[in-house]
Amino acid sequence: MSERNIPIALTIAGSDSGGGAGIQADLKAFSALGVYGASVITAITAQNTREVRAIHPVPLPMITEQIGAVFDDLSVAAVKTGMLGDADTVACVVASLEQYKPAYLVVDPVMVAKSGDALLLASAVEMLKTRLIPLASLITPNLPEAAVLLGCEQPTTLAQMQRMAEQLLTLGAGAVLLKGGHLEGSADAIDLLCDGNQVCQFSSPRIATRNTHGTGCTLASAITAGLAAGLNLQAAVQQAKDYIYAAIFAADRLQVGQGHGPLHHFHQYW
Ligand SMILES: Nc1ncnc2c1ncn2[C@@H]1O[C@H](COP(=O)(O)OP(=O)(O)OP(=O)(O)O)[C@@H](O)[C@H]1O
Ligand SMILES: [Mg+2]
Repeated sequence: MSERNIPIALTIAGSDSGGGAGIQADLKAFSALGVYGASVITAITAQNTREVRAIHPVPLPMITEQIGAVFDDLSVAAVKTGMLGDADTVACVVASLEQYKPAYLVVDPVMVAKSGDALLLASAVEMLKTRLIPLASLITPNLPEAAVLLGCEQPTTLAQMQRMAEQLLTLGAGAVLLKGGHLEGSADAIDLLCDGNQVCQFSSPRIATRNTHGTGCTLASAITAGLAAGLNLQAAVQQAKDYIYAAIFAADRLQVGQGHGPLHHFHQYW
């Protein structure tokens, strides 16, 4: 592919100073999969592999300016949203997305960091559900997020996950990828893709490692990269699942930080 028509993806998310999740993970995943990445920062977090120490929201007019600056110049093929923080930020991002209407929108409904720190106020959930999710081509909740979105208990079996994926589709997104990373006692990491016609299973062995900081951000960005590059949804999810498996598998080679360390985004190159 010539450099003139390299696909472009945009992430709208929070910055992780530790470099393992958020905007930093998104840009690494885009780059590793051959897609040019642009970024709009919604919040700056003071964070490492152990904890989120502070969150500084970016003023709303500056978020709007960033999105406008990107869309007015770059041909964005697909957009991903991650940490949005509060209801006003969700509404601000929704207004710009309604204006620029990206062909693909992947919404990762980020609520809690791997360290357990909150990344979305409870008061923002309704706005996320009613305004942002209906614009999405795909949403990628993990099991705790799915439970919050539906106001129910977290599933403990694959059959419950399947019913939940179908219920999540009624929130109005084009498709749902329910991530099973949090399914206790499962030997495999199983994600379910529900597009209204069928539920497909994407499965890999579960890797025993502490270094899973940024798995969710990375998976959603890898899917977004695939969509930007012209893959259909199933192919984009399969490519992302293969990529995240290899990046988690290689994570222990990095030895970054004392807590939940990052994935090895560039395992293919180093
Ligand atoms: N230990 C593991 N081994 C293999 N795959 C995993 C493991 N943990 C998670 N995954 C996979 O990684 C992807 C991200 O899922 P996960 O449920 O961890 O997202 P998340 O909770 O949103 O992550 P984060 O906490 O980074 O936001 C999914 O494809 C999931 O199946
Ligand atoms: Mg997540």
